[in-house]
Amino acid sequence: MMKSAIVGCGGIAVVHAQSLIQRQIGEIVGFADIKPERAQAYAQRFGGRAYSSLEEMLSAEKPDVLHICTPHYLHVPMAVYALGQGVHVFMEKPPVISTQQYRQLAEAVQQAEKRIGFCFQNRYNKSVQLIKGLLASGEAGKVLGARGFVTWCRNEKYYTESGWRGSLTTEGGSALANQSVHTLDLLNYFLGKPVWTDARMANHHLQGVIETEDTVEAYIRYENVNASFYATTAYCADVPPLIEIACENRTIRMEGERVTYFYPDARVELPEVEVTAPLGKSYWGSGHAGCIEDFYESIKTQKRYEQDLEGIEDTLKLMLAVYESARTDSRIYTDSIAAAL
Ligand SMILES: NC(=O)c1ccc[n+]([C@@H]2O[C@H](COP(=O)([O-])OP(=O)(O)OC[C@H]3O[C@@H](n4cnc5c(N)ncnc54)[C@H](O)[C@@H]3O)[C@@H](O)[C@H]2O)c1
Repeated sequence: MMKSAIVGCGGIAVVHAQSLIQRQIGEIVGFADIKPERAQAYAQRFGGRAYSSLEEMLSAEKPDVLHICTPHYLHVPMAVYALGQGVHVFMEKPPVISTQQYRQLAEAVQQAEKRIGFCFQNRYNKSVQLIKGLLASGEAGKVLGARGFVTWCRNEKYYTESGWRGSLTTEGGSALANQSVHTLDLLNYFLGKPVWTDARMANHHLQGVIETEDTVEAYIRYENVNASFYATTAYCADVPPLIEIACENRTIRMEGERVTYFYPDARVELPEVEVTAPLGKSYWGSGHAGCIEDFYESIKTQKRYEQDLEGIEDTLKLMLAVYESARTDSRIYTDSIAAAL
């Protein structure tokens, strides 16, 4: 079994640890956190040794794979460091929070002999696979357009308790980079290559509390269709994210993992979709274990991992383009993001 290590022992790390153990994907040899008591608690619960720094853990344990579960701003520097140490990296979202980080990451990945995989676990949901297959089959007809809609609740307490969320330097973005980047990724997964975006953002309900946005809306031009995207954390509840794809022969709606087909003759169909119980919060979905397992399998079999940098690059570029568009009040072409790469 490959040796796994996890850096960042907060909320999401538990899902990584449980996935590794339940599916016997990797043997956990170490946990690292700048709050040593967190690393110790994880080591006691899941096995392995506790460390107070990434560097110390990698040097002592020499793991095969590092899972990065730290705040956003640390993803790239930690990935660059681990790849440089000859360790495979499995990274939580978002992959980057700036164009500069994107350049650093791309350079490190190009030079590395080891692999990197990104955690967009919702692509593994049965509902997503069902829709992907339906679109590919042509049965739904031509895609006319789509919308993505994320309305969640993130209040003052959520941000003030965190220490890193809500700051441009450490979180980079909230409604999009943190909460709704999965939905943006799924839109791309279904619709193909995004070409340009025209976006706006705002802080409606947390002025003076966060520097980042609580609301973002974007018009996205894909090669063949347009999509509207809206995300806000100023809502009163965590409603399942919605993606709706209007096709010639039916409209496909996905809310959370529930799929509904609406036909032109007013018929409504609810296809059966198997939903696995999530290991963590319900809105994190149940895809982590499959996503992690596939990454390890790709290392063993030397096959390409679909969620490598190339596989998620459109999402990364579109996310940066949405922010750039909102900051500059102008249309931004996704290929202009780090164009010199
Ligand atoms: N894929 C998903 O659905 C999903 C869900 C939740 C969180 N996430 C992502 O996971 C990451 C972590 O989120 P979280 O909710 O677990 O955050 P968290 O704040 O609960 O945990 C982060 C941990 O990192 C530790 N840390 C900070 N700086 C460190 C350093 N220099 N070295 C070692 N440890 C350090 C903190 O002490 C903390 O224990 C974020 O990037 C978030 O976007 C992804």
